[in-house]
Amino acid sequence: MYDLSVSLHKYSYDNFGYVNLPAKPMAMFDRDFEWSALNRFVADDTRRVSLGVVSGRRRQGKTYLLRALCQAHGGFYFAADEATDAESLRRLGSELARHLRLPAPLRFDDWHRAVDALFALGSEVPVPVVIDEFPYLVRANSSLPSIIQNALAPLRPEFENSRARLLLCGSAMSFMGKLLAGNAPLRGRAGLELMVHTFDHQLSGRFWGIDDPRLAFQVNAIVGGTPAYRREFVREDVPTGPEDFGSWVARTVLSPASPLFREARYLLSDEVDVRDTAIYHSVLAAIAQGSATRNGIASFLGRKSGDLAHALTVLEDAGLISREPDAFKDNRTLYRIAEPLLTFYHGVMRPIWSDLEFGRSTEELWQRSQHRFSGNVLGPHLEHVCRYWTRHLAPDDLLSDLPSWVGHGTVNDPAAKSSHEVDVVVHGHRDGGGRELLGIGEVKWGEEIGIGHLRRLRHIRGLLVAQGRSGAETARLLLYGAAGFSAELRDGAGDDVRLVELADLY
Ligand SMILES: Nc1ncnc2c1ncn2[C@@H]1O[C@H](COP(=O)(O)OP(=O)(O)OP(=O)(O)O)[C@@H](O)[C@H]1O
Ligand SMILES: [Mg+2]
Repeated sequence: MYDLSVSLHKYSYDNFGYVNLPAKPMAMFDRDFEWSALNRFVADDTRRVSLGVVSGRRRQGKTYLLRALCQAHGGFYFAADEATDAESLRRLGSELARHLRLPAPLRFDDWHRAVDALFALGSEVPVPVVIDEFPYLVRANSSLPSIIQNALAPLRPEFENSRARLLLCGSAMSFMGKLLAGNAPLRGRAGLELMVHTFDHQLSGRFWGIDDPRLAFQVNAIVGGTPAYRREFVREDVPTGPEDFGSWVARTVLSPASPLFREARYLLSDEVDVRDTAIYHSVLAAIAQGSATRNGIASFLGRKSGDLAHALTVLEDAGLISREPDAFKDNRTLYRIAEPLLTFYHGVMRPIWSDLEFGRSTEELWQRSQHRFSGNVLGPHLEHVCRYWTRHLAPDDLLSDLPSWVGHGTVNDPAAKSSHEVDVVVHGHRDGGGRELLGIGEVKWGEEIGIGHLRRLRHIRGLLVAQGRSGAETARLLLYGAAGFSAELRDGAGDDVRLVELADLY
């Protein structure tokens, strides 16, 4: 299944004592940081077992990385599945025997024995020992984390005389988060905590091999940065150019025969360990359709805002939504869907779901969804990408200082008895402590940006100056326009203005 041809040389030490890491598999895109962190963790020569935890949402490439790691170091990889404790122990025994080339399966009556057998794999050299899908094992036997904790006890010979590098991996984010938190048995034991993130918009564009920024952005707004969506899910079907985009959407994510079609529905039940997913779907639908405050979501659902606390926490722990505080209003928070495919499903697909399933012309349905695609998907995604780019990727001369926080904000306008939404608010650290406003910005997907937009930002900056916000006088005015800028604006923008085009984001 995996093509992980690696140069199988063992790691070695160069003259300076640095470890030469094994080469990353040719087929592996990016993940240099993760590859290096994992290899350093394994190659560390310390005598005694060490523990690492690898987490990340589904289909981001955790298994891919860990299998490659095991291949490179001759390690042992075990993928648990949903099974009873006894069956898992039996499977582990036979896979371990196969790994050790023993004629008969090993038999473990309990996990104490099994864990020590795993430790014994590292009796001579450091070796990775991976238990993938670890949450399945704990679901069947909740004492497993404390069994491992006890096995990692100082002065135990099995622990002290082994260089096994035990890696526990899982995608149930809320579970993996709790594994090392609070008073959990394994807290403070792990020497590596690696989170495998989704690719950002720039990496996704390169991963999909799309050079045209507009096309890359549109694809990213639908499938996000999950590597499996390009590989297994659409089997390398990449739009051949901007003119192919509509047809690509119709033959992939909107086609009932494509695995991507139902993925958004499965994603939720995969990531969130609950039986009744209705309320979670409704919360996501509310956010996708623009009701992103807590009260907004509550009224969309017809519930009291207090009743939502649990659902919001679960979705947040699973990494499916994020909470974005308002830069200027302490008690106002917006929720954002963190996975583009979910936004696309709720913003575009769900309203036409039965038509799609019953074979109406997909291209026609897609044509009629353009308004929702722009308003619910592309616009909000562009705002998010602009904030992310400003925070992490923008050139130094965009702002007068390094940004330390980028978000959105609401500014009161007492004279007009109204308030203004600001898409991008940038803060930096002030020299003597505290924060300083570095810039405010406006993002537009479908509309050309003109002098009117600039005037609005100037007005808002004036309001912030009047509020006495630190840095407001010199804050830059940032205009991010996917549909370009008017000639008048280009000529009339002063030194304090920066225009950012879609291509700049890539
Ligand atoms: N860095 C990468 N370069 C190229 N392809 C990748 C990369 N990472 C992942 N993939 C592709 O994505 C697929 C899914 O990855 P993988 O099964 O490792 O995800 P996972 O995080 O283990 O997911 P799950 O939690 O569902 O087990 C892989 O089969 C591979 O095709
Ligand atoms: Mg996996």
